Amino acid sequence: MQASPRKLRNQCVLITGASSGFGASTAMAFAREGAKLFLGARRSSKLHEVADLALEAGAASVWSRNLDVRDPNSVETFMSELKSQTETLDVLINNAGLALGLAPVEEDEERYWIQMMETNVIGLMRMTRDCIPLLKKSSAGTLINIGSIAGRVAYEKGAAYCASKAAELQITKALRLELNGTGIRVSTIDPGMAKTEFSMVRFEGDQQKSDDVYRGVYPLTAEDVAETILWVAQRPAHVCVDELLLMPTDQAAPYKVHRRN
Ligand SMILES: NC(=O)c1ccc[n+]([C@@H]2O[C@H](COP(=O)([O-])OP(=O)(O)OC[C@H]3O[C@@H](n4cnc5c(N)ncnc54)[C@H](OP(=O)(O)O)[C@@H]3O)[C@@H](O)[C@H]2O)c1
Repeated sequence: MQASPRKLRNQCVLITGASSGFGASTAMAFAREGAKLFLGARRSSKLHEVADLALEAGAASVWSRNLDVRDPNSVETFMSELKSQTETLDVLINNAGLALGLAPVEEDEERYWIQMMETNVIGLMRMTRDCIPLLKKSSAGTLINIGSIAGRVAYEKGAAYCASKAAELQITKALRLELNGTGIRVSTIDPGMAKTEFSMVRFEGDQQKSDDVYRGVYPLTAEDVAETILWVAQRPAHVCVDELLLMPTDQAAPYKVHRRN
């Protein structure tokens, strides 16, 4: 007998990095399914805009708070306030992350390496550790980490970002083993090039450098990634999408991109 897709109405869904890009679009996708959303990011005003739109789109409820996954105190406050709202989490989406700079190791800046590692690796582990007890209380907890093609295939001038996403992949695999038998599903969704605020953040607001990344290419959109995250969460409880690589057709590898004139 075919098991039906999992219903997300009134399911408690926590999304980190929900103020823009994949996180904001994912909030909208889960809102349309009637989920109870818990959203975190550092830019409170953008987060509140997403929260308002998610309510309009059909979310059962939306709770949003300032969250800096690099800062243990911020995570502690966020989690303690979250736990006053819910004892259970059905879905955790570890999406908060960033790349900074694009330079050979010889010329790169250590402060970028530290911020990427603290956000993409330590921040993800910190959130995961604190959410596992709540996921265990769900009848079918789902933990989705956002990785990248960069965690699978290295590219020049991206050593630290690639390393941070390779770490994400190995952390996901370790969690899959550790949580086997709990009923919690553990997935990594690894996109290729997508047009979000990612490149503006990477190049610290340099519009020209950001535009050059997407020149002549049809990149993924935030909605493409959000639909995929939703699909993974909607699989029946006995189905775990362990690893999913989602690429634009124009991109065969990080360094192999078809560009139109
Ligand atoms: N776009 C791509 O090509 C691509 C491809 C593969 C994977 N990814 C990954 O996808 C994820 C989302 O990126 P995106 O493309 O949607 O970029 P984005 O539009 O820049 O979104 C990144 C999100 O992460 C949040 N964030 C960054 N540092 C944070 C921190 N210390 N604490 C809490 N939130 C933080 C940002 O919010 P605040 O600034 O408000 O805190 C923002 O909401 C990242 O993990 C990224 O590495 C992106």
